[in-house]
Amino acid sequence: MALKPIITLPDRRLRVKSEPVAAVDDGVRALLDDMLETMYEAPGIGLAAIQVAVPRRIIVIDLARRDDDQASGDPLFLVNPEILWASEETSSYEEGCLSIPEYREEVFRPAKVKVGFLDRLGKRQEIDTGGLLATCIQHEIDHLNGVLFIDHISRLKRERILKKFNKTAKRVSQDYGAATGH
Ligand code: NI
Repeated sequence: MALKPIITLPDRRLRVKSEPVAAVDDGVRALLDDMLETMYEAPGIGLAAIQVAVPRRIIVIDLARRDDDQASGDPLFLVNPEILWASEETSSYEEGCLSIPEYREEVFRPAKVKVGFLDRLGKRQEIDTGGLLATCIQHEIDHLNGVLFIDHISRLKRERILKKFNKTAKRVSQDYGAATGH
């Protein structure tokens, strides 16, 4: 297993629509393992492949990462996940994202969802879920479509966050330019 760098705003790859996986093979399983290790290390509770710059429809989730004992031993691996049903009832969580570090905002989403996906062995599975897991799955599936949680908040708040990241990126590249003479 290997840690992979997590891309952050304003990296444009976060807006890419990821491609479906044709078959869950050893290469995909190796990526799942790397993603899980990267997510635990960050630490986070969910990670989409595009966040490690791989534009494929792959997600890892482990809500129990807060335990001292890093791995809960029961992570969820979702390949080609699809929301098959979503409740009209909504709920809200204060969401964050490893690709938008240090920002959290309240986001409303369907409270319950039914999700179809391929598991680590390529077997078709369905889960019905609510609570934080429903929120997390929806947040990660959004990533596969180039959507970020800040797209669900007010435009004013979103623009404030985007501005902050654009400014930081500019400063970093200016510093780099000054240091290297470019
Ligand atoms: Ni995220």
